[in-house]
Amino acid sequence: MTEDNLSSHLDRASLAPDPEFTAHANGTQAMYAEAEADHEGFWARQARERITWARDFDQVLDWSNAPFAQWFVGGELNVAYNCVDRHVEAGRGDKVAFHFEGDQGDTRTITYADLLAEVCKTANTLASLGVGKGDTVAIYMPMIPETVFTMLACARIGAPHSVIFGGFSAEALHTRIADANAKLVVTTDGQWRRGKPAPLKMAVDEAVDHGGAVSPVEKVLVVQRTGIEVRWTEGRDVWWHDVQPGQSSTHEAVPHDAEHPLFILYTSGTTGKPKGIFHTTGGYLTQAAYTNAVVHDVHPETDVYWCTADVGWVTGHSYIVYGPLANGATQVLFEGTPDTPHQGRWWEIVEKYGVTILYTAPTAIRTFMKWGHDIPERFDLSTIRVLGSVGEPINPEAWLWYRKYIGGDRAPIVDTWWQTETGAIMISPLPGVTTLEPGSAQRPIPGVSAEILDDEGHPFTEPEKVGYLVLTKPWPSMLRGIWGDPDRYVDTYWHRFGPEYYFAGDGAKYDANGNIWLLGRVDDVMNVSGHRLSTAEIESALVSHHAVAEAAVVGASDETTGQAVVAFVILRSEATDEAAADEDGMIASLRNHVAKEIGPIAKPRSVMVVPELPKTRSGKIMRRLLKDVAEGRDIGDATTLADSSVMALIAKGLGKG
Ligand code: WTA
Repeated sequence: MTEDNLSSHLDRASLAPDPEFTAHANGTQAMYAEAEADHEGFWARQARERITWARDFDQVLDWSNAPFAQWFVGGELNVAYNCVDRHVEAGRGDKVAFHFEGDQGDTRTITYADLLAEVCKTANTLASLGVGKGDTVAIYMPMIPETVFTMLACARIGAPHSVIFGGFSAEALHTRIADANAKLVVTTDGQWRRGKPAPLKMAVDEAVDHGGAVSPVEKVLVVQRTGIEVRWTEGRDVWWHDVQPGQSSTHEAVPHDAEHPLFILYTSGTTGKPKGIFHTTGGYLTQAAYTNAVVHDVHPETDVYWCTADVGWVTGHSYIVYGPLANGATQVLFEGTPDTPHQGRWWEIVEKYGVTILYTAPTAIRTFMKWGHDIPERFDLSTIRVLGSVGEPINPEAWLWYRKYIGGDRAPIVDTWWQTETGAIMISPLPGVTTLEPGSAQRPIPGVSAEILDDEGHPFTEPEKVGYLVLTKPWPSMLRGIWGDPDRYVDTYWHRFGPEYYFAGDGAKYDANGNIWLLGRVDDVMNVSGHRLSTAEIESALVSHHAVAEAAVVGASDETTGQAVVAFVILRSEATDEAAADEDGMIASLRNHVAKEIGPIAKPRSVMVVPELPKTRSGKIMRRLLKDVAEGRDIGDATTLADSSVMALIAKGLGKG
């Protein structure tokens, strides 16, 4: 995978913090002890120092109805005020909030004063369309400034938003709109992808019309981004440019309760039905701001920070919108892709804006490794001083490459472990404080407590033994539940090891120095390019295809994307002739069907047609065996199979028998 063996050249002494860096770092060693000594006091201080409250809170944490937490009880605040207005009031209105870089090379500079005007106009627009406090708004948009304006306008009004990643299909959008009962959808006519316009609103039309069923959606607000043709529904559809620019650029930011819902974000679980993870106002903002300060080490006066995530994922919520804006940071917002118009696009952007902090995903780093280090070497990346990684384990080779070729062999890398559910970073080194260990997220940040448990639920610390990661204390940005399904919240996260442990669903181990290594999901959730996909969801998409009788999906390891979707399907008898006549056509049709049902990110890398699936006597599909096949290994222990000849049949069918 690499042309040189980076780990053999590693100078381990260089992994200790540079004293020069430490002298100016936001995070300190003392914070660990401080948080350890007084967990609630520590968080109360973060909340009061980093956030402006319209009404101070009376109680830090109410855990009496665990696992349903309430943080900063009695406090009132407005998130948009904290992210925008207060910076302008403090005289920093001329400071750049976003350097927007469009896919087509178009740019836009948005100062905090501009942001305030746009957010107010958008809040007034939403109000004029009938959106009030407590109404949910679905946002299905690309990475453009209007998406950020809309999220902040929702927060300002107290209308929880549900951002749905632009790569999801109409079907996925429909389910999420219905589950959240969204009254308004904000979208664009289309989105730019690798230099070409692709429709976006079309999926909204399909999701809202959905075979004539009743939809909660009353209005669809449409930003014109690409100019491609759209179908228009009179009375329902509204152009942004017809209503937003003429609105007043002032809007009163009414304070909301600390526990008022801020947003819902759907994520894959172990069943086919996505979970609407919801977060509230005060605790979420506190931890997003705190972590962006101490983990990314953002210094708003001097840094140019760039998080490459899409706003459709939690990383974009916490580390493009809420955390950095609460801190008054200057950011890059990028709509495009890394290889358009050339493979140096990211590095050109780093050079152009003098990016100092870059936060991205291992899958991107591995892609750049494949393209070769001579590409970033053509650009001046000397401004970079902190690098971050998120979304999946970063293998030490990728870590070392990132450090050497992007970080100039000196920038600390923060490997940040967290989840949609945790709302903000939980396990990560602190730059300037921690001696780094390539490939490990290392230890919980101050204010967070984790353990690794064995199968019986006992905590252990022996090195190299694999167990389950759990969180042992409530934290401010924790999910407050699953939208509309409190039982599933309790069952999924607080049941496996009893009510005192939050079960994250990740495998983990310690090394000999007590560093935590995250080892991937232990449940039926895959991680493809840092995106969570559920095997069950893809299986149910496959069986909804007319030709499929049964399906099993596994995540097979993949050099670039971490894992890749591999599907095994049994065809219905009436479809076998069709498949025999054109097997490639059938496979293409199945792959496209998944893309249509869920989205292109879920499209299987390969689909294998098999005569049988390996099952235990109780009928559970043995995905472990299928994973062996998908990863090209000899089949492991198959003694618990109900029918031991099945694997032979599969191997034969795949031409390996
Ligand atoms: C995985 C993304 C190892 C993990 C913020 C987790 C990681 C899931 C890391 C959450 C990391 C995220 N090291 N694994 N640094 N970061 N993960 O909800 O399996 O999209 O449970 O949140 O990604 O994915 P989600």
